[in-house]
Amino acid sequence: MLAVILSGGSGTRLWPLSREAYPKQFLPVVSDDTLLAETIDRGLALDGKARVMAITNEEHRFVVAAHLQAQAPERTAGIILEPVGRNTAPAIALAALAAAEENPEELLLVMPSDHVLKNPDAFGQAVRQGAEAARAGKLVTFGIVPNAPHTGYGYIRAGESHEGYNDVAAFVEKPDEKTARRYLEEGDYFWNSGMFLFRADRYLAELESQQPEMIRACRTAWEERNADMDFTRVGSDAFKACPDDSIDYAVMEKTRDAVVVPLDAGWSDVGSWSALWDIQPHDENDNVCRGDVITEDVSGSYIHSEGRLIAALGITDHVIVETDDVVLVADRNRVQDVKKLVAQVKAQG
Ligand code: GDD
Ligand code: MG
Repeated sequence: MLAVILSGGSGTRLWPLSREAYPKQFLPVVSDDTLLAETIDRGLALDGKARVMAITNEEHRFVVAAHLQAQAPERTAGIILEPVGRNTAPAIALAALAAAEENPEELLLVMPSDHVLKNPDAFGQAVRQGAEAARAGKLVTFGIVPNAPHTGYGYIRAGESHEGYNDVAAFVEKPDEKTARRYLEEGDYFWNSGMFLFRADRYLAELESQQPEMIRACRTAWEERNADMDFTRVGSDAFKACPDDSIDYAVMEKTRDAVVVPLDAGWSDVGSWSALWDIQPHDENDNVCRGDVITEDVSGSYIHSEGRLIAALGITDHVIVETDDVVLVADRNRVQDVKKLVAQVKAQG
């Protein structure tokens, strides 16, 4: 099995801690390890032979390489560098093309680098549950039981059930809120966790039929690659010409061969500061505090200091994040709008 780690996005939802230059996968957000380090560990733990490959960009290549060197020097399958981001469908295509050269039927476990899974054993179990279906040619998704009409996720309607998994009756990426509410009421929907398991040749075959222009561009970019130590740079012009799309829209909404394995492993994509408050242990006042923090009559809050002492008094349901150059103070129920602040900061230059 090859763990394919996607590390190309520039999440700014945990601003001011995560920045374009330093997105959240490179930060220790819930433990002392970075999210990327935890992801690599999950890949290595799958079985004694699993190898790890990362797909990233020029800017982040050394930090990704340092992670792989530190954790898996013997089991690294290399780092593919994209000249530009073309979203997840082409990124995964490059990994599949690389893997297929050695073994077309290699199982790829695609994992975003910026998620939290509190129970890696339950995750390993879910992967084993899906492996047989993947070997038989299915595209395996891992489904999370939804608890809100979140519009940032893919929704998977479970179809016929088999031992350990269900067929996917429908896959809808990022529905509007009204539709998401309806799915929640109907009840037989999962959220897509964003992790996938399939054979390299099966993913490539799906692209051949669903996205011929994309796979053509990726094949050319792959043929024109250059190796440089652990890094493989793909052909720049060909990759730049590749259509930009996510695996969810480009393949998963269209394939007839998807299945879903339920995943109950404390998963979170840490999409906001309130998600970080949700997934971590709360103190007796329902707060999560990291770093140098003192509180008096504070409840329901996430308070995070990178350096200076934060002293908070008499507030409820707040987020306070202190970094070298920015202090964020927000209503915990408004943190989805942090992006509006990021836009203002950008506009100021
Ligand atoms: N290498 C590479 N290149 N990685 C990328 C690129 C790219 O161009 N674009 C995104 N990624 C990485 C991100 O860093 C992240 O780890 C992962 O791929 C997923 O991309 P996101 O941009 O975070 O996707 P999303 O959160 O909007 O949606 C996906 O995840 C949801 C769960 O968190 C979808 O799969 C949804 O269906 C799913 O519910
Ligand atoms: Mg995401």
